[in-house]
Amino acid sequence: MNKIQFPKDFLWGTASSGPQSEGYKHKKNDSIWDYWYKKEPERFYNQVGPETTSNVYEQYAEDVSIMKELNLNSFRTSIQWSRLIKDFETGEVDQEAAQFYNRYIDEMIANGIEPMMNLFHFDMPYELEQKYGGFKSRHVVDLYVKFAEAAFELFGDRVKYWISFNEPVAYTKGAYWHNLIYPNEMSMQSYVQANYHILLAHSLIVSAYRKGNYSGEIGIVVDLLPPIPRSENPADVEAGRIADLFINLIFMDPCVRGEYDQDYLNILKKHDCMFHYHIEDLEAIKENTVDFIGINYYQPMRVKARDSMPNPFSPFTPEWYYEPYEMPNRRMNEYRGWEIYPKALYDIAMRVKNEYGNIKWYVSENGMGVQGEERFKNKDGFIEDDYRIDFIKEHLGWLAKAIDEGSNCFGYHLWTFVDNWSWTNAYKNRYGLVSLNLNNTERTIKKSGNWIKEAIKNNDFS
Ligand code: NOJ
Repeated sequence: MNKIQFPKDFLWGTASSGPQSEGYKHKKNDSIWDYWYKKEPERFYNQVGPETTSNVYEQYAEDVSIMKELNLNSFRTSIQWSRLIKDFETGEVDQEAAQFYNRYIDEMIANGIEPMMNLFHFDMPYELEQKYGGFKSRHVVDLYVKFAEAAFELFGDRVKYWISFNEPVAYTKGAYWHNLIYPNEMSMQSYVQANYHILLAHSLIVSAYRKGNYSGEIGIVVDLLPPIPRSENPADVEAGRIADLFINLIFMDPCVRGEYDQDYLNILKKHDCMFHYHIEDLEAIKENTVDFIGINYYQPMRVKARDSMPNPFSPFTPEWYYEPYEMPNRRMNEYRGWEIYPKALYDIAMRVKNEYGNIKWYVSENGMGVQGEERFKNKDGFIEDDYRIDFIKEHLGWLAKAIDEGSNCFGYHLWTFVDNWSWTNAYKNRYGLVSLNLNNTERTIKKSGNWIKEAIKNNDFS
């Protein structure tokens, strides 16, 4: 077997986020998660809320030293808007929070870990949700720009990779379409409008970053669910195309190419669901395309044409045009319920190469959640997660092939480093290379952590 190898300067790392890891050792403003948990704790698995984390606020240096030990060279986390900013209207910074992020970033750099800082990981400040309706409001776009400018000013001398948003569609789908994230509103108009304002906020902060003459790069992290139609029948193919437009291309296209796909806009207009915009926004979107793109890939989206027409009096959703297809005999992650289909990573890589100008990109998340992972603990207390090692290897095999064929991929980040709090699923599914003891926040490297350490050292992922 040929060795699976990667370029010398490849970024190897993991990804996490502020709200899922920092904890509450220092007081901050509430985000929607803090508020929602207080209001409806029963919506959270085992009623475990966002205060139960790996306590990175205090234990960041320990984590960085384990990253170094595992030969990782990069890490993405996020700066919490609700922590860094004391007063959202003026953009006044909380000095203690700024010092925390300074210490964290400096620690990474001192240990050879490249920090990749993301500015939004589903964590809308509650005050802005309550007063203005979050990103449904254009005013919140302006406040977001103030926050981003403060972050660039504070950390832009050292942080070389900035990310405007993580998985904007997962956030807006959860908040406005699938009833998974506060405010749990079910409205396509809100989905479309919030996505548009997020895009606008993204473009404006890319512009602000460039005006500030910082020496790094700025991009966005999108979650792609590659659509796989049930058959080559034109109706199924069309179903896949529409799902793609509303879930994947809604950010890929404007962020990389500078404009929306016309078909997306036509469908919105047809259903009287167009977003409100100012004509000059379109210029800002066109001018401020990204330096790089981060792609989170977990599983594909199998779709088919609808078996029956939707009720024409029901409110429009893109699912008027497609339905999920439960393909028999799909290969499933038996511990989590998601499909495992590593080849889609290759397909994504080649799509970026062939349809998006071969822009620089990296795998910003990929990984395997496992429910009840404790049962894989051996007698010495170590988790033997061979399933995760196989999962990573298979995905890396396809990624290496795409790189050989010219795809411009510069890194791979696994979700995640230490098991973290996963929103309403709390700790139901564990994802880390390092396990977390929830009673005392003790960290223990899993078998996958030791495997990746050797694989990186030998540049051999076979
Ligand atoms: C993607 C998200 O960015 C992250 O917050 C989440 O925990 C993981 N997927 C796992 O579901």
